[in-house]
Amino acid sequence: MDRGISRYCERRFKDKKCLKLHHLKPNLNKFIITFDGKTEIHVKVLTATSEIMVNAIELNLKSVEFTPEGGVATPATVTLCVEEETAILSFAAPIEPCLGKLFFSFSGELNENLKGFYRSKYTSPSGEARHGAVTQFQAIDARRCFPCWDEPAVKATFDISLCVPHDRVALSNMPVASEEVRGDERLLKFERTPVMSTYLVAVVVGEFDFVEDTTRDGVKVRVYTPVGKKEQGKFALQVATEVMPYYTDYFEVKYPLPKIDLIAIADFAAGAMENWGLVTYRELCLLVDPDNTTTDRKQKIALTVGHELAHQWFGNLVTMEWWTHLWLNEGYATFVESMCVNHMFPEYDIWTQFVTKSVVVGLQDDALKNSHAIEVPICHPSEIDEIFDEISYNKGASIIRMLHKFIGDEDFRKGMKLYLTKHEYANAETEDLWAALQHSSEKPVKEVMSTWTNKMGFPVITVSSKQIGNSRELTLSQKRFCASADMKDDPSMWMVPISLSTSADPTKASHNFVLSDPTQIVTIDNINDGDFVKVNPGTFGFYRTCYSIEMLDQLVPAITSKQLPPLDRLGILDDVFSMVQAGHMAPTEGLKLMSTYSECEDDYTVWKNMCSWITKLNSLFNYADECKKPFLAYARSVLRKISEKLGWDAIEKESHTDTLLRARIIESLVECEDEKTIKEAKTRYEAHRNGTKILPADLRLPVYRAVLTDADASIFQEMVEMYRSADLHEEQHRISFAMGYMKDPELLQKAIDFAMSDDVRKQDTVYVISFIAFSLEGINLAWAHLTKHWQTCLDKFGVMPCLRCIYLDYN
Ligand code: BES
Ligand code: ZN
Repeated sequence: MDRGISRYCERRFKDKKCLKLHHLKPNLNKFIITFDGKTEIHVKVLTATSEIMVNAIELNLKSVEFTPEGGVATPATVTLCVEEETAILSFAAPIEPCLGKLFFSFSGELNENLKGFYRSKYTSPSGEARHGAVTQFQAIDARRCFPCWDEPAVKATFDISLCVPHDRVALSNMPVASEEVRGDERLLKFERTPVMSTYLVAVVVGEFDFVEDTTRDGVKVRVYTPVGKKEQGKFALQVATEVMPYYTDYFEVKYPLPKIDLIAIADFAAGAMENWGLVTYRELCLLVDPDNTTTDRKQKIALTVGHELAHQWFGNLVTMEWWTHLWLNEGYATFVESMCVNHMFPEYDIWTQFVTKSVVVGLQDDALKNSHAIEVPICHPSEIDEIFDEISYNKGASIIRMLHKFIGDEDFRKGMKLYLTKHEYANAETEDLWAALQHSSEKPVKEVMSTWTNKMGFPVITVSSKQIGNSRELTLSQKRFCASADMKDDPSMWMVPISLSTSADPTKASHNFVLSDPTQIVTIDNINDGDFVKVNPGTFGFYRTCYSIEMLDQLVPAITSKQLPPLDRLGILDDVFSMVQAGHMAPTEGLKLMSTYSECEDDYTVWKNMCSWITKLNSLFNYADECKKPFLAYARSVLRKISEKLGWDAIEKESHTDTLLRARIIESLVECEDEKTIKEAKTRYEAHRNGTKILPADLRLPVYRAVLTDADASIFQEMVEMYRSADLHEEQHRISFAMGYMKDPELLQKAIDFAMSDDVRKQDTVYVISFIAFSLEGINLAWAHLTKHWQTCLDKFGVMPCLRCIYLDYN
């Protein structure tokens, strides 16, 4: 694999731990939105060279010099290579091996593209439009802010200084070390950072309020919010203050910085970014307004905070060697976010939800013929953005959970400590993590796990059974599972950690073994004829199970009696429908099973899964009109009992998951065109709109959806007005999401135009359009728009920010 620049660096600057001094001055004046900068890099030249290559793009390099220690400055001529995003410095005479300083002075535009060093627009309390300056460097955009070797393995310490207007907040990774007033500006010098990668450097300049606290081990935590909204930072503050010492204890590795700031940015492409000591968030992912934030959003915020703070160790202290190993960062943080949320909020039942949020999503995408392995060779930087996807995040997180179960928490923890301490302030690859966990557990971690990271896909375990006296003989076989076709010719084999449970104790795995052959026979002793055998209890394994009809029938009574735990009920349902989807089982089998659940099921996560299958089937019937009506009637009958149980209004002291369930079930009934539900929703909307009874936040999405589904132009316009005047980003997000369900093509087209207008921030346009693309009418319109206005879209947005968050938000 050619990694171009780092090869080049390694040859010449073997000592990667160089010091970088960056001075930046953003000009935030309304008319000149630029920045000036100076960078000094301390390097060690190992081999004589007359050329040095650095990363730089869209920077105006004004002067470049190299000064050997005790020597004379030598100016360089600079050749920019836009394609490679590099600048090649050529010196008149070769630089001999030495220690020296590379100096750059440069300027750039504070761009509008949400990457590099960019501007973010906000309204001051007096109503004036102003700009802040923000950085977003992951993966390869530090080079847009200063010349550097912009690769995760080229680590350095950073001394950042900023020159800012006197009345602005200015933040960076470290606390301020010194401050000097210069006319109406301030020069802030920040403390030196630990050795770190360029993609984690951050700077924010703007106007913010904050709330603060100190963790029990002395780390200062602040949550910065828009001016006047500091109350909205309190929930994240509480989470962060508790989660930081939780990780310190779990990993037994101290957080090495004196502070951690979390800040809500008005224009932000991703959901959140883990810059060391200065974590940036889109407002939706950080701010909680008690009257307007849903229970679901609060839960997501807790997970997001937990995710980014996990990166402070896993990613920031120990960084992947190269982007091929990105999944290590993202998969791991996606696993650990649930660990800390479970610790803080046991009532969220987050490990159950993990299965719909990560395992089901990972399995779904990885069942595609054109999936990819968790580890992807990255040759050109342009390929990096593509792998921030469900495979890296959710398959990654799911196989880590599978491994955690396989080796147990104690050995997992010991292994993590070993990994973090061995590679701290340095870089690591997947193999290094396996080595540490193998060492701590003395189990064949590397051998088992490499089958899950090196190739795409996962197996379906086909299982049948035969009762012989008081024993049961199970035949298990594996082959790659594909959602669209039989993978007959695919010879892939996995080492599959298999667990089994039986009627004797459905809550405990009675058998654990690793299936490595294509077929294996397992005997279960002392089991009665007719007792069930459940494969994959707890849905820890990243695979599908295809039971014989007889085995499935034996499981049904344990579903209705809820003798089987929720994750097993969910696993059976999701596996059966996946088999239906792939053509391995008749659709009627799936529907029969669903009816069984409808009578007795009361678990939120199981219902969430069931609702998502209703949505998938419903969208299939868009192509079979004659089936649509009967299917919707069937789906309404499935939802009837639970909806009657929950009603519309929250019951005092009800559980967190019942609140989530109510909103989900009402939304499904709206989707299934239930007249009574839609009528009630419209009545409640009217009362909300005229101010007689404000809708609780949890009910707003299903109600907006009901109102918008058959909206006319005036209701659409009303919603646009609500969007414009909404003070909370979450409310805007909700409105635009519901707009995606409008049926009238003319209104859908209007919604696309609205998405492209200045009413919608650039960061949200792509979401609004993709919500519209959820429906059959919408997808054609969105596609037509995109192809017709391709150039405008490219000019306005550059590369579209990835859409992963959508799945994160709604599934
Ligand atoms: N490191 C990512 C942010 C990121 C994503 C930067 C893509 C550049 C490109 C961060 O840790 C992350 O995963 N953010 C998530 C939210 C999180 C709760 C899963 C995101 O932005 O979707
Ligand atoms: Zn992440």
